Amino acid sequence: MIKHIAWTSLLLLSASAAAADTPASFMARYAQQAGVAVTALSPARGEALYRSEHPGRSGGAQSCASCHTANPKQAGQTRVGKRIEPLAPVANPQRFTDAAKVEKWFRRNCMDVLQRECSAQEKGDFIAWLNQVK
Ligand code: HEC
Repeated sequence: MIKHIAWTSLLLLSASAAAADTPASFMARYAQQAGVAVTALSPARGEALYRSEHPGRSGGAQSCASCHTANPKQAGQTRVGKRIEPLAPVANPQRFTDAAKVEKWFRRNCMDVLQRECSAQEKGDFIAWLNQVK
């Protein structure tokens, strides 16, 4: 009986651990995928990725900041003017808590801005920067 209870709570614990993604857990996962220590993620490179401009399909320069604004604590806007909640976890605690959402939007937005997917290192750097925005 005691054994059974211990086993059940272990299962529950691991289930809730899997559900509770955080900016730190994404940083750990992307660092591992990139084959680097989590301490090797670079907020400076993450910020550069956020701000660097690339030629857009319609000619003008575009960056992550084009939609998410120069200040990631502020709400942004899509090209058709739809509100985007702030990207920095300090301003929006729901950020980087849902793996499906994070993967979907990294893929879509990196393809959109860089015309390629972001690497695991880039994704880790990006979150490392956003997560230390105060
Ligand atoms: C064309 C506008 C646009 C651009 C440019 C853009 N994004 Fe986004 N981004 C969005 C929208 C829309 C969402 C989803 C709505 C939301 O989450 O509020 C989003 C959400 C995200 C998310 C989801 C985070 C989470 O946990 O909720 C990530 C990660 C992200 N963007 C990264 C990037 C990166 C990296 C770049 C630059 C390479 C970028 N975005 C450029 C519009 C944009």
